[in-house]
Order: sequence, then C-alpha cells, then structure tokens
Amino acid sequence: MRLDKFLAEAGVGSRKEVKLLLKKNLVTVNEQPVKDGKLHIDEYQDIVLFAGERVIYQKFYYYLLHKPQGVVSATEDARDQTVIDLLKEEDYRTDLFPVGRLDKDTEGLLLLTNDGQLAHRLLSPKKHVDKEYFAEIEGLVTEEDVQIFASGFALTNDEQVKPSKLLIDEINEANQTSKIRLVIQEGKFHQVKRMFEAVDKRVVYLKRLRMGSLVLDEQLPLGAYRPLTETELQEL
Ligand code: URA
Repeated sequence: MRLDKFLAEAGVGSRKEVKLLLKKNLVTVNEQPVKDGKLHIDEYQDIVLFAGERVIYQKFYYYLLHKPQGVVSATEDARDQTVIDLLKEEDYRTDLFPVGRLDKDTEGLLLLTNDGQLAHRLLSPKKHVDKEYFAEIEGLVTEEDVQIFASGFALTNDEQVKPSKLLIDEINEANQTSKIRLVIQEGKFHQVKRMFEAVDKRVVYLKRLRMGSLVLDEQLPLGAYRPLTETELQEL
C-alpha cells in the first residue's frame, strides 16, 4: 500500500499532515529516509519509523468501554465529557466513535471503533442484534408487562416497538421497586425508558450488559476500557 495511506491509517496524522511530516524527513522505510508518500510499501514486512518510533499497521481498532454516568456517547460535545475523552492519549484517534448511544445517565457496555461496517451491522434493525440491559424500576413489574413486551406494543407517542424479552429478577413490594433484564433488538431514542413509561413505570438505573455476542467485562472499572480480544472480535 502507499506509504502516506499507511501512515494515515496507522494514526500518525491526516493525509495532509502526513504529507508535511514526510517533507520534514521524519519517516524512514527499512532505514532509508523517504519523502515521497506515493512509495508503495509492504505494510506487514517493511519497517517504517516515524520520528524514530516503529509504526505498526492496524487499520481497525476496537475498544470495550465500561461507560460511567455523566459522560455523553458522542465524539465531541461543547459542555459534557464524551466517551472519546475517556481514551488515553496513546489510544486516541480522530476516527474512533461509539457504536450507538447510551444516555448520559446510562452505564455499561459501549464499543468504540473506527470500523464503520461493523458498527452498521451491529446497529441496523434488520440485523436483529440483541442489546441486553439491566434496570432498576420504580414500580412493580408484572407478568402482564412481560406479555406486553413479548408481543410488541406502542409507546406513549404511538411509536411501535418490536417484541422484546423481559425477565423479572427481583420484586421489592416494600419499596415498590423491581430489578429486571430486558433484551431488545432495536435502538430507538431512550427506548428502554420509554418502554417502561408506556406501562406506567420509571427506569431509575440503567446499564447495558451485552450487545450481540459482546458481554460487558465486569472486571473493567467504570470509565475504563480495553481492546477486544481476538475471540470477541471473531464472534462479533
Ligand atoms: N434505552 C434507554 O432508554 N437509554 C439508553 O441509554 C439505552 C437504551
């Protein structure tokens, strides 16, 4: 592949920045200084150094983040800290983005990547990828709610939601609260909160546990992230 493309995809800089960096004599290929970005290299064999540091070829990056509350699922925000701001400087790349959105007050599994095709596959309603949530609910969730969720129903604004799997984990009659797990295959705005609103209940805590085959790593503290393992990536 072309050297300038290699350097840009490896995160050294944009194509424009790479051009300038090459001009400044900062790049060597197999110990030879190179200024011409058009040079074709073998991205897996040739030894490319930028400012004396080895540049390893990796096109796509995948991080599993344990999203904390108070952080927005966006790449940029004028007011709030974003999930991308949680990345360490050495992992930051301009093309990383979160796959789907969790609300500011929702915790849990969020995949960060620069792989647009994978993101599309995970988010497209046509692909029926499970998203599993744990929630604490104000109100007593009933078997009737389980049936309503199982057959699909209309939200308060008449928007239709598809059948979903609701599992009651715990009912606390004294406090009038419930703990549940819910598996949906869509990703409408505030979907889980709005689904419970439609059955006259309120989500007071929400956490995403799973997206397709990818499960939240409970070893990861809130706000921490790690690259996906080879197995996780294969399964996705
Ligand atoms: N549903 C919600 O209501 N909020 C989220 O963050 C995710 C799903």
